[in-house]
Amino acid sequence: MQKLDFEFFSACAEYVKNIINDEPEVGIILGSGLKDFSKRIIDPVVIPYEKIPNFLVSTVESHEGKLIFGSLQGKKIICMSGRFHHYEGYPFEMLTLPVRLFKLLGVKKTIITNAAGAVNESYRPGDIMIIKDHLKLTGASPLQGDNIPEFGPRFFDTTDMYTKELREKALLCAKGSTLNIHEGVYMYFTGPQFETPAEIRAARILGADAVGMSTVTEALTAAHCSMPLLGLSVMTNMAAGILDKKLTDEEVGETAAMISGPFGDYVERIIGEI
Ligand code: HPA
Repeated sequence: MQKLDFEFFSACAEYVKNIINDEPEVGIILGSGLKDFSKRIIDPVVIPYEKIPNFLVSTVESHEGKLIFGSLQGKKIICMSGRFHHYEGYPFEMLTLPVRLFKLLGVKKTIITNAAGAVNESYRPGDIMIIKDHLKLTGASPLQGDNIPEFGPRFFDTTDMYTKELREKALLCAKGSTLNIHEGVYMYFTGPQFETPAEIRAARILGADAVGMSTVTEALTAAHCSMPLLGLSVMTNMAAGILDKKLTDEEVGETAAMISGPFGDYVERIIGEI
């Protein structure tokens, strides 16, 4: 693996800076729940991932693979349409790239969205969860290996990783929305297999409200470089073993597509407010 030093990340950022020639205020990483969101961006400058030095390519079919700069709600934003996951074979350390790119571009706040399975039995498919905190019991971290002090200290705090001020604004924006919006704990599983019913029962006992295969790597990178962060999960299905049926990617995709309009409106409102 290439040495992931500060120059590695800078090369990536310099390329993007030369194209956009501007400083985005808000960075957003789109999960499966917000496929069409990037079409809302005004005056878009589109950069395919494969053109960016040292960047990764997203191998998941429903993930587009484009970095888009433009404006929305009067704010300059940079949007990753398509994200990277450990289950695609990328080492955890490489998953620091998106948020570190945002940081080097001057982004002040990051929003991360994802599709997730509902563990909390009072949640329903189509509901939204503002992430309050997370559980990750896999041991590995995207910040393992040599620390890069330009981004942050070796040992860093994660107490307010999902920034309180942003969560409060997201809760305020929920008023008047037709969506059911909760606040809860997201639990990370590496995937790509969905969890077993026993894992879901354990997750519930541990305090999880939703489970998914992304977000936590990016959230930890944000905490390391002191980037204010908001995480939003779309409940695309009830987690394994809750209903008497098997989980499929089709169900995840269908719910995500169904909710993408109102969810996009909600995210746009949040961008206007933060
Ligand atoms: N588990 C993990 N990831 C997911 C799920 C799930 O049930 N639904 C959507 N992403």
